[in-house]
Amino acid sequence: MTLFSRLLAWYRRNGRDLPWRKRRNAYRIFISELMLQQTRVDRVIPKYRAWLRRFPSWKKLAGARTRALVISWAGLGYNRRVIAARDAARQVMRDGIPTTAHDWRRLKGVGPYMAAALAEFVNHERAIVIDTNVRRVAGRVLLGVPYPHLSDDARIRRALNRILPIHGAHWEIPHAMMDLGAMVCLSRIPRCEACPLVRVCMARKFFLPDRLAATLRRRAKQQQQTRIVESRHAEKKYPDRIYRGRILTWIRVHGKTRLSTIGYRVDDTYDPVADLDWIRNMVKRLEKDGLLLFHSGDTISLPRC
Ligand code: ADE
Repeated sequence: MTLFSRLLAWYRRNGRDLPWRKRRNAYRIFISELMLQQTRVDRVIPKYRAWLRRFPSWKKLAGARTRALVISWAGLGYNRRVIAARDAARQVMRDGIPTTAHDWRRLKGVGPYMAAALAEFVNHERAIVIDTNVRRVAGRVLLGVPYPHLSDDARIRRALNRILPIHGAHWEIPHAMMDLGAMVCLSRIPRCEACPLVRVCMARKFFLPDRLAATLRRRAKQQQQTRIVESRHAEKKYPDRIYRGRILTWIRVHGKTRLSTIGYRVDDTYDPVADLDWIRNMVKRLEKDGLLLFHSGDTISLPRC
């Protein structure tokens, strides 16, 4: 049995029953991938269902108002993405549904990961799809890296490309790896005893009972190192996108708000002097993205339409 036939046999018995893998079409898969870029599967499922009731087609999304989009997107992160998705829907209405990764990439807001995923899942074009779960599973099994990192992607891509079947249901392989990563090949301590690939896994040795403690110690050290480097760069606790999301959430719930007070609503360490430019720049960026209105006085609100 090859590695992939073991994996697919496991997937057919244990794979997750996800709504975007059933009743499939290009639009539904596009929406699911858009949501899954920033949000966990269990939180996406109800949002995905509600979204399809409100915006069931490319046409409905293309004609949606900004305000309605921002409200429906609540809790799904990066509001800019949903505005870009409306532009993408308009492109599809004009030019048709893309049929290759290259053409998906031309849609507004579609990056290399999403283009590969859409080409593979919608068009069944052989494309290498690497999300966090695929990275972990493939990095461990094929490269023997216990905690694969973004910087391992080029090697993972080459390894997957060498062994991904040319024919057959290759689009099921990323699905199977995503599920194995979510259910068995867990991020801190994998459940190797339940893994269909344990006998061929190149990282298996790191997680054997007598090596596990040393492996975890090494990982903790590496993570601490990363945190030190990151905290030198960021004065705020979170990246700006988190604060931009909070600004929109506040305005969505409370309506018009003054620029001079919004800082206190979104950041409990807000300093009205030192942080004023920081908050103003985030508001300006949201305005530029069409997500809110910045009135000349100093009030901000959601767009009217
Ligand atoms: N199925 C298809 N794409 C997926 C993703 N990004 N995460 C989880 N399951 C998926």
